Parts: sequence; structure tokens; C-alpha cells
Amino acid sequence: MKRKLLITGGAGFIGSHVVRLFVNKYPDYQIVNLDALTYAGNLENLTDVKDQPNYIFEKGDITDESFIDDLFEKYQFDGVIHLAAESHVDRSIMDPLAFIKTNVLGTAVLLNNARKHWKDKMDGKLFYHVSTDEVYGSLGEEGFFLETTPYDPRSPYSASKASSDHFVMAYYHTYHLPAVISNCSNNYGSHHFPEKLIPLAIHNIKNNKPVPVYGKGENIRDWLFVNDHARAIDTIFHHGKIGETYNVGGFNEWKNIDLIHLLCKIMDQKLGRPEGTSAQLITYVKDRAGHDLRYAIDATKLNKELGWEPSLQFEEGLEKTVDWYLENETWLNHVTSGDYQNYYNEQYQKR
Ligand SMILES: NC(=O)c1ccc[n+]([C@@H]2O[C@H](COP(=O)([O-])OP(=O)(O)OC[C@H]3O[C@@H](n4cnc5c(N)ncnc54)[C@H](O)[C@@H]3O)[C@@H](O)[C@H]2O)c1
Repeated sequence: MKRKLLITGGAGFIGSHVVRLFVNKYPDYQIVNLDALTYAGNLENLTDVKDQPNYIFEKGDITDESFIDDLFEKYQFDGVIHLAAESHVDRSIMDPLAFIKTNVLGTAVLLNNARKHWKDKMDGKLFYHVSTDEVYGSLGEEGFFLETTPYDPRSPYSASKASSDHFVMAYYHTYHLPAVISNCSNNYGSHHFPEKLIPLAIHNIKNNKPVPVYGKGENIRDWLFVNDHARAIDTIFHHGKIGETYNVGGFNEWKNIDLIHLLCKIMDQKLGRPEGTSAQLITYVKDRAGHDLRYAIDATKLNKELGWEPSLQFEEGLEKTVDWYLENETWLNHVTSGDYQNYYNEQYQKR
């Protein structure tokens, strides 16, 4: 095996795309997917790669120090791509401590073990931390987040991610741990848990349920197709400069309400409904507390230095996403009914 990689959170939305890309593209890498299988972790996201010889799944918690120590000992990783996190802003408002535990403590446990196990030879090792643009706070109507924009997190989620980013850089500066960070904008695409805006709207439109939109739907997000994020992670992992941060974004800003109208239009076409039918389901609800107005990423550095750019236009990516959800009813039904949580027992415990 050429490289031994630990990917954390590989059963989640973005992690499963990263695992799939690495397992298929690098057959000579050993990929260990570590995931605690929280409500957001779904091994049904990875049925297509689960039997590949270079793929191993390990169930475990990144906050469990002795488990992580044993894992580093067992596999002798030379790279970590860290995606495991509590990731939903609304949940962070209800239960901030869970976010501090996983996102801050969990990241510190991984960093500490990378440091411990790599201390004799840091050369050729890499700790890649996947983070969010939300650490930069909220923009007004103008301007973009640059890698140099000061951190200004506003929600318990973004504060926990900002804190984890700081720990990664502290380990780089203090212990010379080879590390890199990327901060990405909102992702969309297949295998997205239907508590998030786009899959929730697709699910509700399909089932003729109200489509909730916070406030007046004026909040602006910069959307990136998840496969393009996975490609960016591949590029940064292999070519990024140690100690650097890279912003990843789609150059693709949408007001929530405009996005939902576009989605309604696509869904009307796909479901053979008269245009305007799905839009009637839009329901404005009380705004999220501390709702950031606008995020917009300037991903010029990643483009200029490493040659990455998004591969898809938003309309095309959104249509592909809708097609995936309509073609994968079983996946969606298992997620909404909770059945996906039995998959691990069926797959792994009866053997
Ligand atoms: N979704 C986005 O738009 C977006 C944008 C930028 C950055 N990010 C970052 O990318 C990463 C992945 O996001 P996502 O949307 O795929 O999240 P997700 O919630 O879909 O997946 C998170 C995964 O981490 C696992 N996990 C949670 N706690 C764990 C623990 N204590 N130990 C081990 N595994 C645990 C879950 O089981 C799940 O499989 C996160 O770090 C997030 O902050 C997400």
C-alpha cells in the first residue's frame, strides 16, 4: 500500500463522497473510514465501495482517546483527512456542548495522536482538517471571505469549527505537525441528510408537504456541488502547501428564496406538475436565531495556486441532485424512517 489514510466522518454527506473518490481513484491507498455513526452517519452512503480491497470501516468516536491511540497504532497512518463533526447549525443552537465535544475535543484528540505517532518522522505525513466558511462570520451585501479574513463565528457550530481550526494551526506552529485546512461554502448533492435546506425541500415538495423557509428567505449562501468539494479535497491533500489554508467555493451565490423557487421549478418539471404547483408549498417560518445574512467565498487562491475550479453550473448540479433523490427512494425512505441505523448491525455484526 502506497499510503495509509484515515478519513474521519466518512459515513456522512461529504465524507462519503471523499471516501468514494479516494477508494476508486487510489487503489494502492489503504482507506480507513472512521465514523461513530451518529444520526448523520449512514453506511448506506457507501454500499458501492464497501467491498473494495483498499477500504476498511471502523466504528468509533473521535473523542475516545484510547480508541484513537489504538487505531493509529494498528494502521500506522501517514495521512488524516478529518471531516467528522456535528454539522447542523440548528442542532448547535439546541445543544452547543455536543458540538464542543465532537468538533473541538474530537479534533484535539486526533491532533494529539497524530503528533504522538508521527513524532519521530513528520516527513511525508499530513493532517488535513476540513472546515467551513462559517468561521468567518457574516458578510454584508458586498465583499468576499478571503483566507486572511479574521475569524468571527456567530453560532455554536461555527464557533466550534473555528476553535478546531485554531487548534490545528496551534499544532502546526507549536509541534510542527504537518497540517493544512480548507474552509468551504455550503455543499449540495446526493446523500445529503434531509434536515438540510436542499434535500429537505426536495423531500417535502415530492410529498406535497410545506417547504419551510426561514424569515423572508433573504439569506445568501454560496453553493458548491459536493463532488467538486471532494475533488478540491483531493487536490489540496496531494498538492496543498503545509501550514496553509485554502478557501473552497462555487462562485455561486443564491438567496434562499430564489434557490427554493428554482428547485420548485425543476421539481414541477420532473414530477410532471403544472409550473407553479410546488411553489405553493413555500411556507415562511420564524427566522433562525443569529442567522448570518450572507456567506461568499473567494476561492481564487485554490484556483491560481492549485488549478482547482468547480466543474458544474448550479442549475445542472441541482438537476442532477433532484434526479438522484427521485431515483433513490429507498435511501430516502430509510433515512426518514430511521431504518438506515440498522444497516451497520446487518452488515457488520452478524458476520
Ligand atoms: N455540509 C456542508 O455544506 C459543509 C460545508 C463546509 C464544511 N463542512 C464540514 O465538512 C465536514 C463534513 O460535513 P457533512 O455535511 O458531511 O457532515 P455530516 O453531518 O453529514 O457528517 C458528519 C459525520 O461525522 C460523524 N461523526 C459525528 N460525530 C462523530 C464522532 N464523535 N466520532 C466519529 N464520527 C463522528 C457522523 O456519524 C457523520 O457520518 C464537517 O467537518 C463540516 O464542518 C460541511
